[in-house]
Amino acid sequence: MNCRTTLDSRQGDYLLGSSDAEHQRLIRQAIRLAPVTESFFREAGIGPGQHVLDLGSGVGDVAMLVARLVGPSGEVVAIERDARSISRARGRTAEAGLHNVEFVESDIAHFSRDTRFDAAVGRYILQFLPDPVATLRSLSEKVRPGGIIAFQEGSFAPFVALSAHLPLWSAVVSLHHEVAVRVGVNTEMGPALHKVFQDAGLPEPSMRLVMELGHDPDFTQWLSDVTMSIRPKIESLNLPLDKVGNFDTLHQRLHEEVATSKTVVPWLALVGAWCRTRANSISVLNDSCRLTGDSDLILVTEGLPTIQ
Ligand SMILES: C[S@@+](CC[C@H](N)C(=O)[O-])C[C@H]1O[C@@H](n2cnc3c(N)ncnc32)[C@H](O)[C@@H]1O
Repeated sequence: MNCRTTLDSRQGDYLLGSSDAEHQRLIRQAIRLAPVTESFFREAGIGPGQHVLDLGSGVGDVAMLVARLVGPSGEVVAIERDARSISRARGRTAEAGLHNVEFVESDIAHFSRDTRFDAAVGRYILQFLPDPVATLRSLSEKVRPGGIIAFQEGSFAPFVALSAHLPLWSAVVSLHHEVAVRVGVNTEMGPALHKVFQDAGLPEPSMRLVMELGHDPDFTQWLSDVTMSIRPKIESLNLPLDKVGNFDTLHQRLHEEVATSKTVVPWLALVGAWCRTRANSISVLNDSCRLTGDSDLILVTEGLPTIQ
């Protein structure tokens, strides 16, 4: 029997839901991941003045980070299909005094714009989509030639492997993995980005893997937080919970296990992949054409043979 269900475009099927607790979890997670995501976007070339599209913006953390990188002369358009998340994201952006972010309530599959972006980015989103290759292919048409595509996605394999020394932590991580696989999340979307980019007609991406490690209560809360967000799915799938025990005491027990072990535990590995979309034909035909970091096409005429 195939236990996987297919992800479709209804938010009700989204694994993590959209409760206030899930919003708070996303915000706490974003604080931890901000330095990693910021340095990844800088390396990919995100910078002042650019117009950037953010996919699956949640409560707005990636969009706000990018808004600061592109500055007041740049702009971020952030796509999110969940109305509650959008409303929270708008409120937070206004509170932060950022005026260069537009949140659009839409499924990614239905979003369209006439203008082209300098870059498209996302974090923890392609893994939830039914056809990430088609998403990236369509995205590459929304980004100008020579523009940036940069995504950070998860990888469970090192997360599971480096959790094995602690029975409770490991049991909870395995439960997450099981639930994610059962509902159709690609738990190895991060490493798969190399192929997914190329299947979408994009150049081979540059890639990085970063794994957070920790032991303090704030760090271990990460796992109990996600467990609470996916609890409805765990219960609807009727998965055995004997190794995990009572959800109400889970955070305390996870923290005690980690603290007494004097070891660190990992969080889901974050794999970043980025590339520049192919330059348009004039720059391919002539080595003397180059694209600058912004959107201008510069034709360098020095050294070209004179046409008689
Ligand atoms: C794990 S959260 C990540 C949020 C944000 N990128 C971050 O890293 O903080 C994924 C978000 O994508 C949204 N999402 C999932 N599938 C979507 C789709 N097909 N179209 C638009 N948004 C989607 C969910 O509602 C959720 O808010």
